[in-house]
Amino acid sequence: MRAVLIANPKGGSGKTTLSINVAGYLAGRGCSTLICDLDRQKSATEWLSLRAPQLPLIRGLGARDDGALEPQRRGDWLVIDSPAGLHGKNLARALKPARRVLVPLQPSLFDMAATRDFLETLAQEKAVRKERALVGIVAMRVDPRTRAAAALEGFLGQFDLPVLAWLRDTAQYANAALEGRSIFDLPAHQAARDVEQWQPIVEWLEWPDRPERDTGPG
Ligand SMILES: Nc1ncnc2c1ncn2[C@@H]1O[C@H](COP(=O)(O)OP(=O)(O)O)[C@@H](O)[C@H]1O
Ligand SMILES: [Mg+2]
Repeated sequence: MRAVLIANPKGGSGKTTLSINVAGYLAGRGCSTLICDLDRQKSATEWLSLRAPQLPLIRGLGARDDGALEPQRRGDWLVIDSPAGLHGKNLARALKPARRVLVPLQPSLFDMAATRDFLETLAQEKAVRKERALVGIVAMRVDPRTRAAAALEGFLGQFDLPVLAWLRDTAQYANAALEGRSIFDLPAHQAARDVEQWQPIVEWLEWPDRPERDTGPG
């Protein structure tokens, strides 16, 4: 099993948006894909419930009472969406199966301040120190013409972490989500620009061992 944790303790930073789109990408490639929704608000679970059966299959996965994840099959991809305020034991637990950690970040003062603390905490986690889990940043809702975008660029320059992508501010994500879709489930002509912005993210996720393609639906 390969697992990716999507985390940022700031609410509204884009965790669920990243999670469902990572899952949509993987499922669309034919990978056996599960979402583990650790957030009590259950946004990712709600999205899954809207997903039409003819779309590439994504399964939901629960956490056990002791906080551990249910065991998975070897070939599965597990996408872990996490709640706001994730820290301490819960962070360590969520990190345990993860080989990648995606941190979404929006160009706002408040998001940057909260994320600075989180990146420092993350860097001290054993899994990250030992490089069992690699951390990558995704800048969310960026309008490159704004001062806020320039501030975000300056902020991210202080960290020795890859900034995988700068995703534009677009209603495509919200509109697709309303139908249980990721941008990878939209007609190619509609999503081409956004799918292109995702290429470095998916390459980083799948590197170095690209998963086998299954013959799943779609
Ligand atoms: N690239 C983007 N462009 C426009 N809106 C976005 C983008 N990424 C996220 N959003 C919106 O930001 C809001 C918060 O995102 P969400 O994924 O729910 O954050 P979190 O799970 O961290 O609380 C949602 O309304 C979502 O549609
Ligand atoms: Mg969320």
